[in-house]
Amino acid sequence: MNSTDNRASLSSRAAGVRPFYVMDLLARARQMESEGRSVLHLEVGEPDFATPQPIIDAGIKALRQLKTHYTPAMGLPELRRSIANYYQQRFGIRVDARRIIVTPGASGALQLALSVLVDTGDNVLLTDPGYPCNRNMIRLLGAESNVVPVSAETQFQMCAAHIAEHWNENSVAAMIASPSNPTGTMIRQRDLTDLIEAVEAVGGRLIVDEIYQGLVYSDEDLTALKFSNDVFIINSFSKYFGMTGWRLGWMVAPDQYVDAIDRVAQNLFLAASTVAQYAALAAFEEETIEILNRRVSKFRERRDYLLPVLREMGFEIPLEPTGAFYIYADCSSITRDSFQWTRSLLEDEAVAVTPGIDFGEYRASTHVRFAYTRPIDQLERACCRITRYIK
Ligand SMILES: Cc1ncc(COP(=O)(O)O)c(C=O)c1O
Repeated sequence: MNSTDNRASLSSRAAGVRPFYVMDLLARARQMESEGRSVLHLEVGEPDFATPQPIIDAGIKALRQLKTHYTPAMGLPELRRSIANYYQQRFGIRVDARRIIVTPGASGALQLALSVLVDTGDNVLLTDPGYPCNRNMIRLLGAESNVVPVSAETQFQMCAAHIAEHWNENSVAAMIASPSNPTGTMIRQRDLTDLIEAVEAVGGRLIVDEIYQGLVYSDEDLTALKFSNDVFIINSFSKYFGMTGWRLGWMVAPDQYVDAIDRVAQNLFLAASTVAQYAALAAFEEETIEILNRRVSKFRERRDYLLPVLREMGFEIPLEPTGAFYIYADCSSITRDSFQWTRSLLEDEAVAVTPGIDFGEYRASTHVRFAYTRPIDQLERACCRITRYIK
């Protein structure tokens, strides 16, 4: 076998999929930890809290009852009904459980939505900065990202004017996330309804990723479902419900897409994890929601600590982030090479943060993302180290 035979013959679609730069940082952080250094992690995009006990107990009970077989591809009927009930209780909205599809994380829901919407050569509007996996999912379907640079002027969100500017004959859909990763900012209600109208007017579909719903520190918590039954709503048990490792999410799809989604789900996933689905039945119980809401208060305290301290250090954060657990900071008064800066910060001060390049290209070299997924004492230590590093 010569050396050429060892090389993977990759599809061009796979070859173009970029890794997260933060993964390199994480690998280096782990190496440093194995050498005895204490690394402070402000790069991690998942809650530090474990899954609430009632959910864990429900999962254990399901396993004891030998619930180990496949569920229907669309999910356990009782979980779909519980999710519908959740929309009723939280937002006062009636949703037909038929339109709710349980998926392997929001990731599975995003793949399904894109699979039923895009064809080769189509394009999908998405924000820069934005959640990086979307670009790669679109690419794997042979479609293209139609990148919309966004700034604080529009809460780092896409708005109706962007549709007028960027929509072209190959565009089929637009995607937003509110609250957003990496900016933690939310689309305003008026902007959302205008956006829904604008996308409908050009005959496209809007995908609204609401994975950070519930992790909201203002009274703006909302769902696009309130304004339209024609949007694709993406959600997950990962973030607010603290179930990242269980791999469970859901989608609410427009009625006319449900049958196609069922067929695609059967083929892509067969079904989401059975034990996770049984466990998630306990996610909506009062006891669990109380635990979760105490955690939301903790996240808010962390944000309230971190935001002014970062501003004092010289990071520019034009908008108060009102959701998720991220602060996206302009570091141009400190460095114009955020990628190199995050590397040196890790080497010199053992603090890990995510460089802007992981979320797109627009002003990426002058931005970094801080995740407040660690207790305040760790955030304080991290801030001392960052201050020292900047000095
Ligand atoms: C905006 C956004 N959407 C989707 C996901 C995927 O989440 P999961 O598949 O764990 O539900 C993430 C994860 O960080 C995210 O930030």
